[in-house]
Amino acid sequence: MNKLITFEGVDGCGKSTQLKLAAAWLKARGEQVVTTFEPGDTPLGKEIRQLLLAGDYLPVPEAELLLFLADRAQHVRSIIQPALESGAWVLCDRYSDSTLAYQLAARCLGESAADLKEMLRFAECGVSPSLTLWFDVPVEEAMRRMKIRAEAGEKATRLDAEAASFHKRVSTAFGHQFDFAPDRIARIDARQNIDAVEQQVSQVIKHRFGMAV
Ligand code: TYD
Repeated sequence: MNKLITFEGVDGCGKSTQLKLAAAWLKARGEQVVTTFEPGDTPLGKEIRQLLLAGDYLPVPEAELLLFLADRAQHVRSIIQPALESGAWVLCDRYSDSTLAYQLAARCLGESAADLKEMLRFAECGVSPSLTLWFDVPVEEAMRRMKIRAEAGEKATRLDAEAASFHKRVSTAFGHQFDFAPDRIARIDARQNIDAVEQQVSQVIKHRFGMAV
């Protein structure tokens, strides 16, 4: 079992905050931890992220999918795989479940299309997470949080700005993925406050990896 944990959910679900908190307590226990994210955490990925999210050019859904996958392959080979091989934990903000939810489901490219799922596996270069935390929050609440962030000056990406119906399809898709892979995916009730969510996260990680409480 590798030590890759992916953090997933709709925009505004609070996963990035929780990823930082999980990294902090793992480090406090003396663990080696690498935190990373998609898209854009490699030099090439940074360029791909700009193409994908800045909104200067509108990719067609197929091109959008392929760009996310190109970012992933580069990310796996140059950051995730070496970090796992060095014995570190890797906490990754978004991974293939996001592509399934945003591109295959919400962009209607084919949520259950076997050939597309095969492409997702190809881009993972053999590296699948041992644990995925799905931060489940109602879309209305997630959109309310995004609005607060925007008012505080945080720049929205092209995908943040999609219609509520798009974010609802993303949310429903994460639910389907959980139903499909309950052994890998743990559902976190992300409606709760930050401390309560952090408790859930640490319990799930400790339990899944057999760590002392
Ligand atoms: P980002 O600004 O990194 O924010 P966050 O992950 O906190 O929401 O935005 C990344 C966006 O890219 C987000 O809207 C989800 C989207 N995305 C996809 O559509 N497909 C993917 O495969 C990945 C990794 C992300």
